[in-house]
Amino acid sequence: MGDQDIRIKRVHHVEFYVGNAKQAEFFYRQAFGFARVAYAGLETGSRDRASYALRQGKATFVVTSPYGVDGESAPIGEHIRKHGDGVRDIALEVDDAEKAFDIAVARGAEPAYAPKELRDEHGTAKRAAVKVYGDTIHSFLSLGDYRGPFLPGYATASVPGRDAGLAALDHYVANVHLGEMAKWEEWYTRVLGLRRFMTFEDADISTEFTALNSVVMANDSRSLKFPINEPAPGRRKSQVEEYNDFYRSPGVQHIALLTGDILATVRRLRDNGVNFLRVPDAYYEALPARIGNIAEALPALKELGILADKDEDGYLLQIFTQPLEDRPTLFLEIIQRKGCQGFGKGNFKALFEAIEREQDRRGNLV
Ligand code: FE2
Repeated sequence: MGDQDIRIKRVHHVEFYVGNAKQAEFFYRQAFGFARVAYAGLETGSRDRASYALRQGKATFVVTSPYGVDGESAPIGEHIRKHGDGVRDIALEVDDAEKAFDIAVARGAEPAYAPKELRDEHGTAKRAAVKVYGDTIHSFLSLGDYRGPFLPGYATASVPGRDAGLAALDHYVANVHLGEMAKWEEWYTRVLGLRRFMTFEDADISTEFTALNSVVMANDSRSLKFPINEPAPGRRKSQVEEYNDFYRSPGVQHIALLTGDILATVRRLRDNGVNFLRVPDAYYEALPARIGNIAEALPALKELGILADKDEDGYLLQIFTQPLEDRPTLFLEIIQRKGCQGFGKGNFKALFEAIEREQDRRGNLV
């Protein structure tokens, strides 16, 4: 790698713009088990927005709401008016945010905001951002000498959540319009230097009624994985189109969170009231032939509705939540990897049929 590369260390956090950050924070703590670690709002001198930083394991979410309708509040309110609650920013930690921004813009990325310095008594950080699909952005963050709870401007807050054993962020999936997948694949290649890790054609991801295409962009170590979905022509409206209709643009369809013990995690989440997608019992009758011997007991997987898939490197266990908002848009995935670096290709059909049944109940499988 030369000096002109953007070296992404990790996804620092995912920020959601939401209608009521105080209530969203309660939801992610009580339902998903995140702990509140930092807060910025009126009490800390933030006059335009309230933000709560939530963390579980290494995964950090931020939920943000505007206070007003003018100035810096305005674009936040506009985002919520158009999209409902949703992901605004997948924030990337880099060595130097200003340099990363300059390189990205030189490679054709559209600026969201120019580099700025953030400073408080805990130190100084830098931040800039570029636009991606829909109204989503990637901000570049460099933490410099900052040693505070989250980012400059935030005060420490320690409010525990009902911990569910979630350990880290795994992947972030975009839904884009028909015919735009290749454009964003090219963007991630050109601007961020990622590479195509996997592709799934509509033959892999089709049901009787609908289909989609998907490409997974990743870095060399595969610590960063950004799948991109587009609808493919089918007899009825694809789940990707349903998302795009209700989000009113491309955006983040789901975020996958890693756990080291999916049985325990899903039990906790169910106790906390989280609702998951269910596949028919027939799925579990076919599973042993497909997956072979695994450590987890089949009845436990079936009871909890957890799916399994394998490749030559190992297997994975996964489950999707129901959408987290009234609009059928963003959901979360819980995933445990036992060697397998894939995305559950063997489960796509069962999962997408389950999504379609919900889509049909909503009157959107037309
Ligand atoms: Fe996923």
